[in-house]
Amino acid sequence: MKRLQGKTALISGAAKGMGAAEARIFADEGAQVIVADVDDAGAKAVVQDIKDAGGNATAVHLDVSDAASWEKAVAEGRTAFGNINVLINNAGILLMKTVQDTTAEEWDKIFAINARGVFLGTKAVLENMKAAGGGSIVNISSIYGLVGAPSAAAYQATKGAVRLFTKSTAADYAEFNIRANSVHPGVIRTAMTEDILADPTSEKELLGTTIMQRAAQPEEVARAVLFLASDEASFMTGSEMVVDGGYTAL
Ligand SMILES: NC(=O)c1ccc[n+]([C@@H]2O[C@H](COP(=O)([O-])OP(=O)(O)OC[C@H]3O[C@@H](n4cnc5c(N)ncnc54)[C@H](O)[C@@H]3O)[C@@H](O)[C@H]2O)c1
Repeated sequence: MKRLQGKTALISGAAKGMGAAEARIFADEGAQVIVADVDDAGAKAVVQDIKDAGGNATAVHLDVSDAASWEKAVAEGRTAFGNINVLINNAGILLMKTVQDTTAEEWDKIFAINARGVFLGTKAVLENMKAAGGGSIVNISSIYGLVGAPSAAAYQATKGAVRLFTKSTAADYAEFNIRANSVHPGVIRTAMTEDILADPTSEKELLGTTIMQRAAQPEEVARAVLFLASDEASFMTGSEMVVDGGYTAL
């Protein structure tokens, strides 16, 4: 039996990076996947890959910072695949700046996507999950939502917010059989970290504080997200799953 057989999963920010890896792995595990992103061409390409591999997926346009966009994306996804059983709040942007270098506009923008986006996404699916008898929500935070780091002031604030928002969701919706957990990836090779890892000094710094001394592939996080999304994680809610090669262990 496939691990997500019969389930529909909406993944935000699934046009590339970790979201795309989750979309492909979830489809392999039997899920019907709603690939949601502002990048329509990227989302369609992921859907095509999934279909070519024999899976089931559809692309929907989604700007996670916009409530109306969530309503539309959820409605389109449900028209294609019915009830949404799994939500992965994955879309996010990075800003590596100190407090003094961060403008109020940059602060608002990153909060709109990384924090408000998770709130709006959760709000957009809860009623459907309640009516369907339950669901699993996985919010992608970061090691930067757990420990401090230089020059990541606003990003850290958003990821810390996601960590505790997840616990609040878990507390309020357990009675409806809805689980909510956060995932805290370390350094992962995606477009988000491409420039940082291309610079030998910052690569050395980041990997030097990672016990395993390497960055991960997106699939290594996607498999952890798969576990939380599936019924195998039936007694896990409000938890923090760290997938960081030991970055926070020292
Ligand atoms: N890469 C890492 O090392 C790392 C580490 C820890 C946490 N994370 C988190 O993991 C998540 C995925 O990161 P990634 O590295 O795969 O990033 P990525 O840049 O490769 O992909 C992010 C995706 O989100 C989409 N997106 C951006 N803004 C959006 C919006 N407003 N609405 C909808 N979609 C939007 C982009 O189009 C893109 O497809 C993010 O939340 C990120 O903060 C990444």
